[in-house]
This record gives sequence, C-alpha cells and structure tokens, in this order.
Amino acid sequence: MAVSRMTVLVIGATGSVGHLVVEEAIRQDFTVRALVRNPGKTRKVPAEAQVVIGDVTRPETLSDAVDCVDAVVFTLGSDVAGKVGAESVDYGGVRNVLCALGKRTARIALMTAIGVTNRTGAYNRATEAHDWKRRSERLVRVSGLPYTIVRPGWFDYNRPDQHRLLLLQGDKCQSGDPSDGVVARRQIAEVLVHSLISDRATRKTFELVATTGPAPDDFDALFAPLEPDQLGALDGVHDMPNMPLNDEPQRVRDDLNAVLAHKSSPAS
Ligand SMILES: NC(=O)c1ccc[n+]([C@@H]2O[C@H](COP(=O)([O-])OP(=O)(O)OC[C@H]3O[C@@H](n4cnc5c(N)ncnc54)[C@H](OP(=O)(O)O)[C@@H]3O)[C@@H](O)[C@H]2O)c1
Repeated sequence: MAVSRMTVLVIGATGSVGHLVVEEAIRQDFTVRALVRNPGKTRKVPAEAQVVIGDVTRPETLSDAVDCVDAVVFTLGSDVAGKVGAESVDYGGVRNVLCALGKRTARIALMTAIGVTNRTGAYNRATEAHDWKRRSERLVRVSGLPYTIVRPGWFDYNRPDQHRLLLLQGDKCQSGDPSDGVVARRQIAEVLVHSLISDRATRKTFELVATTGPAPDDFDALFAPLEPDQLGALDGVHDMPNMPLNDEPQRVRDDLNAVLAHKSSPAS
C-alpha cells in the first residue's frame, strides 16, 4: 500500500519520542492519528494529524482510535510510579490496543528499551519496568501481526557527530547506563516510522544506538542484515532465556492466550 493511503495510530503521541513520531510520519506522508489521553494536550499535536481522545488503561476508549488503522506505533511511557504503571500502561496498554484491533491486520512498531532482558539490575528490581516491557514485546510477537520491536539506547546523549545507526541483537548491553549506547529521540522516531513500510524490518527485534558517522540514507539496507525472530518464539532472536513461561504470573499467560485467540494470520 502507498504510504499516503496508510493510517498510522501513534500511542504516546504527546510524549518526548511520540511527538517526533507524529512529525516524522506526517513528513513521510502517512495519514496520522494521535491517541491523546488529556484533551488539554491536543494542542501539542500538529494540525495535520487526527486526534482521538483515549486512555490505554481504559479499553472502552480505544475503539475509535483503532478504527481502520493500517499501522500502530507504541512509544508509551508510564507516569505512574513503578510496578503499577509498568504493568498497567507499558504492558497493559499494548495488550488493550492489540485486543481492540481484534482481527484487523495492522503493522506494529513497538519501542521498548535497551537492556530490557536484564531482570536482576537495581532498576528492574525496583520497577519491574523491564519485565513488563518485555512482556509487551511477547504479546506483539504472538499476535500474528507484522511487527518491528525497537529497543533504543539512552535518549539524546549523542555527540553532534553521532548520526550513524547501529542495530544490535541479543540485548547484550546491560550496564544500565549510557555506556550501553546512546541515540537521539529523532533517530528513534525515524527508525520506527521507516520500519512500518520496510519488509526487511518485519518480525525483527533490535537494540538501536548511534555512533560516529553519517546518517543512513537507505533504511531497507539498515534492516536487511538483521535476523528475524523465530516464528512462534516469545523472545527476540538471541535474547537470553531468563523468563520461562512456566514461571510467569497466570494473568500474563492468560493475556498471551487471549492475544493468540485474536491472532489473524502468521506474520511473514
Ligand atoms: N530515557 C531514556 O534514555 C530511555 C531509553 C530507552 C527507553 N526508554 C523508555 O522510553 C519511555 C519513555 O518515552 P518518552 O520519553 O517518549 O515518554 P514520555 O515523554 O513520558 O511520553 C509517554 C507518552 O505515553 C502517554 N501515556 C502515558 N500513559 C498513558 C495512558 N494511560 N493512555 C494513553 N497514553 C498514555 C503519555 O501521555 P501524556 O502526555 O498524557 O502523559 C505520553 O504521550 C520509557 O518507558 C522508558 O523506559 C527511555
């Protein structure tokens, strides 16, 4: 489908990355729909984008948002402290939007975080944010929808000459500080939006960092060398197997089954 006929829903559209995704998608000629939780923030959305008021923790507010969409970009971040927000927004928001999509086929781009498979660091022990974001990745993988999962490094710590993008797999950088990698918010937005129209990005999970060098001019070429996730696998290719399904909370296994039940056709 031509980009100009694709409608992309941006979940997190008023956030620090999401508003750049809205701008980038408009620049690339998508029809852009922004989910806005607080009507007072509608002014943050460019006039070229449609606004739908909704809250991802309230499934009944999501049906207008997903109506007739061709793609969804998630850049959610919870403002509710710790584990509660991580579960209800970062994870529950993805679950609720996938369920709202029902049998509709939409291309998905999900932003999580570098180090998301690190369960033992102080940050995850305090917030469980990694675990809940990783569970949101798992929902996307089992959904049967074509997807790309982007795990960015630390936002906007780049030096001015760091335009070159490196896409890594296996989530090996787990120091929990900017030494794991840095990337600009605008670069993240570009990658998320380009992934929606690149077959080379389908069923791929990668960490995204920037290094010294020129910006990419061919995003297909950037995505092409990456390995796709195994069909039917819960985790990204080469991720460490440190979250056994049998040890997961029953409600998480129930959600996986519910999303599987909505599954349309296998991702190519
Ligand atoms: N900082 C880093 O270096 C870094 C690196 C890698 C990954 N990350 C991850 O990136 C995320 C933060 O991204 P960001 O800076 O773009 O976040 P942000 O500026 O806080 O934006 C979060 C977005 O989510 C929306 N949102 C929150 N709860 C919602 C709900 N219940 N319903 C609908 N929308 C809701 C917010 O809406 P409102 O405007 O109404 O609040 C906002 O649009 C975090 O989860 C973090 O783990 C951060």
